[in-house]
This record gives sequence, structure tokens and C-alpha cells, in this order.
Amino acid sequence: MREFSAEYLETTRAGMWADSREALADLDLSARERVLDVGCGTGELTRVLREESPAEVVGLDADRGLLASVDPPRLQGDALSLPVADDSFDLVVCQALLVNLPDPAAAVAEFARVSTDLVAAIEPNNAAVSVTSSADPEAHLAQRARELYLQGISTDATLGADAAGVFEAAGLTDVTTARYDHERRIDPPYSEHAVEAARRKASGEGLATDRETMLAGDATPEEVDDLREAWRAMGRDVIAQMQADEYHRREVVPFFVTAGSAPE
Ligand SMILES: C[S@@+](CC[C@H](N)C(=O)[O-])C[C@H]1O[C@@H](n2cnc3c(N)ncnc32)[C@H](O)[C@@H]1O
Repeated sequence: MREFSAEYLETTRAGMWADSREALADLDLSARERVLDVGCGTGELTRVLREESPAEVVGLDADRGLLASVDPPRLQGDALSLPVADDSFDLVVCQALLVNLPDPAAAVAEFARVSTDLVAAIEPNNAAVSVTSSADPEAHLAQRARELYLQGISTDATLGADAAGVFEAAGLTDVTTARYDHERRIDPPYSEHAVEAARRKASGEGLATDRETMLAGDATPEEVDDLREAWRAMGRDVIAQMQADEYHRREVVPFFVTAGSAPE
């Protein structure tokens, strides 16, 4: 199982669902009584669900450390074998969980066991992330790094766009999909996190962490090394632009909210 730090989850989810929650409409949150957020991590979605619904919202994750950031009620457990009774929630939902599981269909079937009504998944298509940047080569290099990384992982990081098929195969009916584009911007004045991200680009640290994954795919060591050199030069340019308050970056991650009715 890929590990996530609390800092990674808090920064990548910052601002998510802050601008518009229309894509959550099919979850009928205002009418829910018991909601389970599976793979809740630090509770970024759990908090949104608690704001939108009068339901008791339980956060569940395999990682006890992440779960410590989530206000109770919370449960430690495995998405593939949920430690709860059949039909004990009227909505079982996850965000950015299925893209990290080798067998997402098994998790969706398990969600259906536990839900009396609706199952939902909010999943990205990580191959369709778009970046624009005032540092010229950044968009192209980010795309290349993403391609090499996605070739090296064994789960389906693009699942968001096709989750409806997984839901239907698991016996869910009336399956709907809504899209939510999560936009992340870096503009002056720069946050501490943005400055740290630029430093990591210039040092190549970020890519070094992903090297092993990239090599597990089609990438050769030379390709990864060349990418890292170009990445570091781009990082130095980002820092220079930041010092002049001229750096701007926009990233859009397309998420898809898929929902389906559990069989009676
Ligand atoms: C990308 S994070 C998403 C966290 C949160 N839903 C969010 O959107 O910020 C994936 C989460 O799924 C959890 N996870 C991965 N495999 C799991 C499993 N088999 N059972 C329960 N949780 C799991 C991880 O610990 C992590 O917290």
C-alpha cells in the first residue's frame, strides 16, 4: 500500500470543494443519516461531508497515524474487509482511494455490502492533470514526470474517468458521474509550502523519491537522470521568478464523482 503523509494530503487537498460542491449533488447529503468515508486519510473529505450532511459521518482508514487527525467517530480498518455490519450506512463514499488499490472492484463490492442505499467514489484521472506555468519548461517536464511515474505503478491512476464501469460490474444500478476540476494555484505572495516545493524542484529531491517507481516502468536510468537534470534547472528558474514575484503556476486535477445504488 502506498503511504501518504498528513502534510501531502493536507496540501494537495487544500481548497478542494471550497469553490463549488455541485458535483456532490447526487450524493443527496442533506438527506443522509449514516455516512462512511473509506480511506479518509486526514479527513479532508470527511469534514466536507460533515458540513453538508446532518448524518453521523464516520471516517475509516487503514493508517492509524493519518486517522489521528480525524475527529471521532473514526475507525481503523481495511476497505476490502470493512469492520462494520451489512447495511449499516446509507452512503458509503471514498475519495482518491480506488486509484490506489490493486483491486478497486473488490472494494466497491464491499461498499455495496455495507450500504443500504448509495455507494460513491470521488476519483481523479491522474493522466489528465494539466499544468501551466510561467517557468517555460515546467508544464512539459511535469507531463513527462507524470507519464514515467504512471507507467511504473501497478494501480489504475486514471480510474476516475472510467469508474462507472467498475460500479456496474459490481452490480450497482442507476450509476451517475459528475466532474469536479480541482484547481491549485501558486501566485505571489508565496506560501511557505510553495517556497519549499520550489526548493525541492531545484534540489531534485521530489523526483529522487519517485525514481524507483519510474524505473519499475519503461523508463531507463538515463532517461530519469536527464529528466532530473532538466527538472533541477527548471526549479532554479522557478526560485529566480519567485524572488521577483513573477512566478505563477496553475494545476487542474480532474476528479469524477461516481455514484450508484446498492442492490436490495
Ligand atoms: C490518496 S489518500 C486519500 C485520503 C482522503 N480520502 C483524501 O481525499 O484526502 C488514500 C488513503 O487511502 C488509505 N488506504 C489505502 N489503502 C487502504 C485500504 N486497503 N483500506 C483502508 N484505507 C486505505 C490510505 O491510508 C490513505 O489515507
